[in-house]
Amino acid sequence: MTEHWTPASWRSKPAKHMPTDYPDLSAVTKVEQTLRGMPPLVFAGEARRLKTLLGEVSEGRAFLLQGGDCAESFKEFHADNIRDTFRLILQMAVVLTFAGGKPIVKVGRMAGQFAKPRSAPIETQGDVTLPSYRGDNINGMEFTPEARTPDPQRLLQAYSQAASTLNLLRAFAGGGYADLHNIHRWTLGFVADSPQGARYRELGEKISEALTFMEAIGVTPESQPALHQVEFFTSHEALLLGFEEAMTRIDSTSGQWYDTSAHLVWIGERTRELGGAHVEFFRGIKNPIGVKVGPTVEADDLLRLIDALNPQNEPGRLTLYGRFGYDKIEDRLPRLLRATKAGGRSVVWAIDPMHGNTLTAATGFKTRPFDRILSEVKSFVELCKAEGVHPGGVHLEMTGQNVTECLGGARALSETDLADRYHTHCDPRLNGEQALELAFLLAEKLKEERAEQQRRAAS
Ligand code: TRP
Ligand code: MN
Repeated sequence: MTEHWTPASWRSKPAKHMPTDYPDLSAVTKVEQTLRGMPPLVFAGEARRLKTLLGEVSEGRAFLLQGGDCAESFKEFHADNIRDTFRLILQMAVVLTFAGGKPIVKVGRMAGQFAKPRSAPIETQGDVTLPSYRGDNINGMEFTPEARTPDPQRLLQAYSQAASTLNLLRAFAGGGYADLHNIHRWTLGFVADSPQGARYRELGEKISEALTFMEAIGVTPESQPALHQVEFFTSHEALLLGFEEAMTRIDSTSGQWYDTSAHLVWIGERTRELGGAHVEFFRGIKNPIGVKVGPTVEADDLLRLIDALNPQNEPGRLTLYGRFGYDKIEDRLPRLLRATKAGGRSVVWAIDPMHGNTLTAATGFKTRPFDRILSEVKSFVELCKAEGVHPGGVHLEMTGQNVTECLGGARALSETDLADRYHTHCDPRLNGEQALELAFLLAEKLKEERAEQQRRAAS
C-alpha cells in the first residue's frame, strides 16, 4: 500500500461493480477527457472544512446528518425535489440541534449519487435477459436492450445534473431559504397535519421565541450570519472510478489531490476490499471519506482497512457507516467499537440503518420496515454508549417526496400501500414524515447523551 499513488493507479487493481460492457471503450476515454476539462464541482477548501467539522464529530462535539435518495435519477431531476429533500434535512437538523445542543453537520446524499452496485449483473423478465440497471450515469432503467446498454454520454449528463443541483443547494444554503426565521415554512404539505408536524410546530414556536428574544438583545441575522445560512455539503458513493479520476485535481493551495466531484465520497460495502481498485483510489485523495461496514467485517480487517485509508490517523478523515441490520447490530458492532477505541483509531462512527433492513414484500416490492430502521438506530446509540464511543451520526435514504416505499411509521403504511407511490430508482426511502419521526427519536437519544455529559462534567 505504500506504492506510488496517482489518480489513475487504481487501474492496475481489481475493480468490482464497474461496467465493462460499454460498446465502444474509446468513447468512454473521450468522455473522461472532456470531464477532465470541466470545472470542479467543489473547492478543496470546502472539503477541508467538512473534514474539520467531522473531526469535531469524532471528538463527540458534533453530530453528522447525511441523507438523500438511494439513487438520483435524470427523470426525478427537478427543483422541487431538491428543495424538498433540502428542507427535510433542515427540519431534521433543527430537531437534532435543539435536543442534542450540538452542531449538526449537514451532508446531502445528493448532487452525484447515481451509480449503483448490483447483486446480479443481469436481469431476466419472462424469457428476456438484459444487463441490470446500474444507475442513470451508466444505463437506463427501462427494460429494453437500448436502455440497458451502457452509454458514456450519461456521465456528462450526470455531471451537468450534479452541477445544477449543487448550484441550487448553495443558493438555498446561503441565500436566505435556510434562515431560522423560516422554520415554519419548511414543513412539507403532507407532513403538516401529522403527529410529527404538530411536534415540529411546537419546537418551531420555542425557537421563534428564542429568536425574538435574541433580536431584542441585538443578536440579528445581520450581526450573526449563522442565523440565516447553513453550511451544506454533498456526498455520494464513488463507484465509477473513471469519473472520479477525471474529477480529481491538484489543489493549488495545498498541492494535494482532491476528488472535486463532492465534498465527501464513500466506499460501498461491496467494494471495500484491501488491494481492490476503490481502496487504492481513496487512499490518495485528501477529501473526508467514508466506508460502509457490514455484518461480515471482522475487527482485524477493519483496522487494516482504517490504516490503509487513514495512515496518519487524522480526525475527520474517515467515517465508518455501520449497516448491520436490526437483528445483527448487537452481535457485530460492539467488537468493532472496541477495536477502534482500544487501537486509538480516530474515526467517526455513524449508522446506516437502511441497508441491513431490506426485504421483499409479498406484493413483490423491495421495502424496509420502519420499526426495524428505528430499532437499529436505537441499538446503535445504546451500544456506542456502552462502549464509551460517541454515536456520531446517521446516514439515511430519504426523500422530501410523499412516497410509500418503507413500511410502517405513524401512518402505518402496509404492504398494499406500497404500490401507491413507489418511485425509487433503487432502494426504498423514508418519506418526509418517517424521516422526521426518526429525527425525533434520535433527538431523545441525543438529549440523554447530553444530560450524561453534563452530569460527568459536573462531578
Ligand atoms: N447556521 C446554524 C447551523 O447550521 C444555525 C441554522 C441556521 C440552522 N439555519 C438552520 C440549523 C437550519 C438547522 C437548520 O446550525
Ligand atoms: Mn441504497
